Amino acid sequence: MCVESNQAILSDVSSGKIPIFEPELETLVNQSIESKKLQFTDQIKDVLEFAEVIFICVGTPQGETGKADLSQIESVAIDIAENLNGYKLLVEKSTVPVGTHIRLKNTMSTYLKDNIGFDIACVPEFLREGNAIKDFFNPDRVILGVESENSRQLLTDIYRKFECPKIWTNPATAELIKYASNGFLAMKISYSNMLADICEATGADIDSLIEGIGQDSRIGKAFINPGVGYGGSCLPKDVSAFIDIFDQNNVNNGLLKEVDSINRLRPHRIITKLKSSIQNLANKRIAVWGLAFKPNTDDVRNAPSLEVVSKLIEEKATVNCHDPQATNQFKKAFNQNSNINFYDDMYESVRECDALIILTEWPDYLSTKLGELKDKMNNPLIVDGRGIFKPSEIQKSGFEYKAFGLKENNN
Ligand code: UDX
Repeated sequence: MCVESNQAILSDVSSGKIPIFEPELETLVNQSIESKKLQFTDQIKDVLEFAEVIFICVGTPQGETGKADLSQIESVAIDIAENLNGYKLLVEKSTVPVGTHIRLKNTMSTYLKDNIGFDIACVPEFLREGNAIKDFFNPDRVILGVESENSRQLLTDIYRKFECPKIWTNPATAELIKYASNGFLAMKISYSNMLADICEATGADIDSLIEGIGQDSRIGKAFINPGVGYGGSCLPKDVSAFIDIFDQNNVNNGLLKEVDSINRLRPHRIITKLKSSIQNLANKRIAVWGLAFKPNTDDVRNAPSLEVVSKLIEEKATVNCHDPQATNQFKKAFNQNSNINFYDDMYESVRECDALIILTEWPDYLSTKLGELKDKMNNPLIVDGRGIFKPSEIQKSGFEYKAFGLKENNN
């Protein structure tokens, strides 16, 4: 049983309509509603009647100073405490700063009317958007942070069908593991972006370099693709919150700050690359392919597209946008502007354009018909924020091609 306070979302999901684009999710939810395994309510009381274990999955967005905003967690804890009707295990699924389980316990104790027992555990979620169902059912590991035998028993039962390694620890460590994982992933990406910059400066080949380091099994090939940087609802906010956790504990966080600052500069560098060919963007028509922060999602939170399009508009360009899924979300996130046009057809979006910027490696873009693209454009210039084309091939097709990691004089 899921409890949701947003009435619009509740009404959608109760009727099997999923308000986001996530492969396989709608089918799974509908099957589960039909087989009566899944139900929804807006009343915490219903859930407390129904279940002994409650997973808290609310958002922990970035607060003003970068630290995680825990107001939704607090509000759920108060609601649970005020309605508690018997022993419950509360499981933190949301990404929360280390020590949140203690805060949760204190809030619960403050608002509890009777002396009813409860436990708190932390089982962080590591699924990726766009791959959520597969990741959820086939995780690399499950982290279980518990502090009582009862919690351990309940969670052992819930996770018995998961065949991956299970790491039992205390809640503080489990809370920290989630940030430490996302911080490490962000570090890999910023490191590879730094490598792309040195390749650009020296003429070394970024693709061979990535292959060369990735073949070392200690380094691995995953998460070292350079480009316009990491976006989304997790990595940027988690790195900021992790920086704050170090600050709060007076521990040096210079490494994480650099990871963050390398990433923040990536969208600006796309504009610099564009302007090294077209100095004055005023009245130029620029196509942008890829509004989602990555393929297979319609999520535009912290997507590089928001910054890149906003900068193009600031420079008085006209922007033609295309994305296979994220156009509606982008329209909601971005102030309306008469200089932005949206297209359903990727080839139509480049008509008469002076440049094409690629920000997401959607499969549709990987198989671009280069001849058709070139015929439609006013000026065959591609600034590729995800390095989806082979430089030699695309240059052979008559394009001027700029990508991260390509030497300046090629750019
Ligand atoms: C991330 C974590 O991977 C997941 O474990 C956690 O639960 C939530 O945060 P997600 O935000 O869905 O998942 O996206 P992810 O696939 O990790 O990609 C994040 C960003 O990094 C994207 O913008 C992607 O384009 C970028 N990225 C990824 C790179 O720039 N290079 C890479 O090599 C990999």
